[in-house]
Amino acid sequence: MNVYDSARMSDVLRPLGYQPVDTPDAADMIILNTCHIRDRAAEKVFSELGRLRKIKEARETAGQPTIIAVAGCVAQAEGQEILARAPYVDIVLGPQTYHRLPEMVARAARAGGAVIETDFPAEQKFDFLPDTAAPQTPGNLTAFLTIQEGCDKFCSFCVVPYTRGAEVSRSVISVLAEARRMVESGVQDISLLGQNVNAYHGTGPDGEVWDLARLAYALAAIPGLNRIRYATSHPRDMDDALIAAHRDLPELMPYLHLPVQSGSDKILRAMNRGHTADDYREIVRKLHAARPDLALSSDFIVGHPGETDEDFEATMQLVRDVTFAQAYSFKYSQRPGTPAAGAPLQVPEDVKDARLQALQALLREQQDAFNQSLVGQTVPVLFTSEGRKPGQISGRSPWLQPVHVTGSPDLIGREVPVRITERLTNSLNGILEEEKVYA
Ligand code: 5AD
Ligand code: SF4
Repeated sequence: MNVYDSARMSDVLRPLGYQPVDTPDAADMIILNTCHIRDRAAEKVFSELGRLRKIKEARETAGQPTIIAVAGCVAQAEGQEILARAPYVDIVLGPQTYHRLPEMVARAARAGGAVIETDFPAEQKFDFLPDTAAPQTPGNLTAFLTIQEGCDKFCSFCVVPYTRGAEVSRSVISVLAEARRMVESGVQDISLLGQNVNAYHGTGPDGEVWDLARLAYALAAIPGLNRIRYATSHPRDMDDALIAAHRDLPELMPYLHLPVQSGSDKILRAMNRGHTADDYREIVRKLHAARPDLALSSDFIVGHPGETDEDFEATMQLVRDVTFAQAYSFKYSQRPGTPAAGAPLQVPEDVKDARLQALQALLREQQDAFNQSLVGQTVPVLFTSEGRKPGQISGRSPWLQPVHVTGSPDLIGREVPVRITERLTNSLNGILEEEKVYA
């Protein structure tokens, strides 16, 4: 979502004469777009700011005024602290205020003092951001599209409801219009984004509230939009209509990021996730019944307060039962202001380390096994770029693995059957089945 937001910030600044440059040394304005989800993300902001300060000082000594802005969720959560620790920062803006950036730039330039905008404004930013004329990078075949933001679920460990605010869905018309613009500019593979994307409930052109399933059917009807993905989903909102859409729509990619966090019912309850481990197993069963080639990815947290060896073993068991094509796993990190941060029974760091290592080893095995299972199969690959080696082109499989083949750059932008020949650590090698084109 930050990648998408950064693109929208570029969009609002373009009319002011700004355009992206390759290095911060060449920039009149530097925007650091930040993440607050775990400790290390926030720490990185302060070390990065130290580096940017030197650039700003060097440029200003040479008579080139330089604005430093901090955007994103660290700005939202720690705006005052940023200004106290890094007084050379000119603008601090939370993720709901990007549409006000031009006005903030003008204020910062005029006043010379720091500008801070971290209130949740009454207007919704999407209603005020200009239409994206082009996707993130012109010529891109894949793009992100935010359809929903914020979260009302309040998981015990998570800062998102505090930094991104309450759940808001964009209207169906504005989502479809943006998707059409993307497709017209050449995009074929769109990832719909939202912190709780499958809780989408946007106003439709008929005045009714549309859910994600209904939106997916409408998106799939756009000619040229061949691949639709969405992230991140919550198991609680994985309803039957959405599962049926996976059965009905070949455009919905058979790859779903569905975070489960833990396999222990006790910990799931403590996390306020609102479902059990067996509920999750049942959702996965239904998804596979609807779309047999669907593969799953997930997020896990080890060491949530109260997690015992037995709870952790329940997570390992869930992983063995479900099997994941890919996953992200994290040590629990105390986020200020969240309920779990002050909970008793915090898990010692060395225990978290050991659990993370064991979980990651299992997940790695499963990822390798999934990739290996594709060797010998023919899969549709959307070619997106020239490869690293001369004569090679690269693309993505329906399951998001990068696939490399020897082939003509003329195939970039086309979806072509590829026979997978080899599994590498995080990608696949293949050969062109024939020069027949899928789409
Ligand atoms: N500690 C560790 N991991 C976290 N996540 C969210 N908050 C925390 C935290 N406090 C993880 C969850 C979520 C992903 C985006 O980040 O697994 O799904
Ligand atoms: Fe955070 Fe996701 Fe839980 Fe919302 S549903 S509080 S974004 S982990």
